[in-house]
Amino acid sequence: MITRRRFVRRAAALATAAGLKLPVWEFPVPEGAVRGSAAEAGNERPLLLGADYYPDQTPEKLWEEDARMIAEAGLTNVRVAEFAWGLMEPSEGKFDFAWLKRSVEILNKRGIAVILGTPSAAPPPWLSSKYPEILLVNKDGATVSPGGRRFTCPTNRTYRRLSLGMATEMAKTFANTPGVIGWQIDNEYTLQPHARCYCKFCREGFQDWLKAKYGSLEKVNEKWGTVFWSQTYSDWRQIPVPLPSNGDPNPGLVLDYDRYQSYACASSAEEQLAMLRRECPKHFVTTNQVGAPLDTLNLREMYRNMDFVSSDNYPGFAEVFMPAPASPEVMATMIGLGHDSMRCVKGGKPFLIMEEQAGKAGQSFFAPQPHPGQLRLWAFQAVAHGAMGVNYFRWDSARFGAEEYWFGMLNHDRSKSIGFDEMVRTVKELKSLGREGLESGFVAETAVSFDHDSSWALAVQPGNSKLRYMAQLMAWYGSVASANTGTDVIHLDEDLANYKAVFAPVQYVVSEKQAENIRSYVRGGGTFVAGFRLGVKDESSQIVNAPLPGLLRDVMGVTVRDPVPVYTEKIAVKFGPQLAGADAQCALWADLLQPESATVMATYAGLYEGDAAITMNAFGQGKAVYVGADLEPVSLARVLRTVLAMSGSTAAIETPRGVEVTRRRGGEKEWLFVLNHTPQEQKVHLAGKFSAVVGNGPTNQTLTLPAYDLAVLQRA
Ligand code: GAL
Ligand code: ZN
Repeated sequence: MITRRRFVRRAAALATAAGLKLPVWEFPVPEGAVRGSAAEAGNERPLLLGADYYPDQTPEKLWEEDARMIAEAGLTNVRVAEFAWGLMEPSEGKFDFAWLKRSVEILNKRGIAVILGTPSAAPPPWLSSKYPEILLVNKDGATVSPGGRRFTCPTNRTYRRLSLGMATEMAKTFANTPGVIGWQIDNEYTLQPHARCYCKFCREGFQDWLKAKYGSLEKVNEKWGTVFWSQTYSDWRQIPVPLPSNGDPNPGLVLDYDRYQSYACASSAEEQLAMLRRECPKHFVTTNQVGAPLDTLNLREMYRNMDFVSSDNYPGFAEVFMPAPASPEVMATMIGLGHDSMRCVKGGKPFLIMEEQAGKAGQSFFAPQPHPGQLRLWAFQAVAHGAMGVNYFRWDSARFGAEEYWFGMLNHDRSKSIGFDEMVRTVKELKSLGREGLESGFVAETAVSFDHDSSWALAVQPGNSKLRYMAQLMAWYGSVASANTGTDVIHLDEDLANYKAVFAPVQYVVSEKQAENIRSYVRGGGTFVAGFRLGVKDESSQIVNAPLPGLLRDVMGVTVRDPVPVYTEKIAVKFGPQLAGADAQCALWADLLQPESATVMATYAGLYEGDAAITMNAFGQGKAVYVGADLEPVSLARVLRTVLAMSGSTAAIETPRGVEVTRRRGGEKEWLFVLNHTPQEQKVHLAGKFSAVVGNGPTNQTLTLPAYDLAVLQRA
């Protein structure tokens, strides 16, 4: 399991390498309304370009001034109240929404639409004192203390009942309140550091979930192989949770426990969702999350019945936690992966940035002020990757509480922050893309697999102690995304037919359904590129009963003679003519490949002379490439980019490092986003004629972008 902090730390060591139009949600738009204004649809459906706002933390006498300034800044909406449980239910069953009503009214008068947050992420002290059983038990078996947030058990019935009760009162109160347009359920189910609960309620919840999943204990025992270490269960209630037990837990049990915890969060959100659908049929419903590089939840489950995905975007974290300054392309890649992962949770449907960094960011200490241009660049990057709107976090800066040092659009003294004008400009420019631009589809020719099962299973058994799923995903994504073909971040049981090439780093767990999907994709002409440790395990986290790569042996046309973790004694890799380049060294892993029908593209030298390191197999109309060696970033990028070129991808645009290009398309129109993440001026060659919608256009087919600048172009 990866935490945000651990991930960014690790990311320093990582790769530096490197049109469909979908309805969002339906509201009638009155004729003649000004595009993008809150009045456009009788306050119902403005573009979502706003801020996260905390009337609960602001003296009421300032609310009018806030609303006026928010409107003057051109913002169309706010999100409020997601941490205000204590004010809305000061004691059990006593509700007070009068203050929030007044605030919404003031905002609505200025034409600012309101997204309400249900406040379950931070129950008030009366609740945790009266019902201490709601507290989360962490992976060491310790009960976490109230006083922070997200300190609750996702299974506990009392917590869920009280959360739902609170949200229901709120929904009934605001169902028809002018200005309210939608809901955010809870806040960041993905939040760390305790992503899992191991309490007795979760244990029972897990047991019940297993019963529903497997039907019989015999099946559980068989799927987990409980005969090992005498773990055979004869009663559902004997099944433990993976707490410390002097010996590693059963891998099948751990994988199912991760799935159960993900389900517990999703089903808890689902209870609130069902209620909101009933009480507030006119409103949209979403919840905000951090996408990759966090892997704690299966977000497809969480968002299945919600209207759209929302995510939170804080690029500044990279600067705070990395041991060495992150290069611009690593930063850009990390953020891009996050956006692409969130966009693909609902099949490419435009998503919302519910929180976007507005200034210096941090809690106990804080990152530097984003460089001039970055607040605009990061918001545009989100839109370039498929966002339909951006809310800056937060409107003002709190003078108290754990996030005093999280800077908003206003300073602590309520003067405008140093980035204020830039954010105002950004919102104005984003509005100029209009609904058709902001809600258009994203164009992707390639896809990278981000697989929770593999990530979770590998976390308990990395093989090499330094091997990390997310580091591999980052390196592969960075290599592929830098070709600017547009990259979706997918599950391998989704429809692959439209991709020129599909990349799967450490696809450690492969289900039969996935194997069949990959098989028919390659047969039909696709290029599938897999990394080492492919198909080692089945869905129960048992090792496949076949030579590796197990279910995909025919597609890949190879057998793994031996899987080898690499520590101090490095293994050299020599590239054949198709991949021509300097010899490389395996970093962490070497799958020794014996071709059956595949051809060899690279071999090992020295100790494993004669074994293949990279192979390519013609299968049906397509190709399957096995990258058996863990290559350092530069070689990996070269290999993956070469294979991408062989796949017939035509969309690639060469850009200098740290400059990215993405495309969005709606109907006949296409928008090209060109973003310079570097502190230097950059030039990009663009074949064809373009005119600028935002920023400056190219001259003589060359687009010149100053440091941190961007352009949105359309073909002339
Ligand atoms: C997000 C969270 C916000 C706020 C913000 C700044 O993760 O949703 O409530 O904490 O980060 O830390
Ligand atoms: Zn629990």
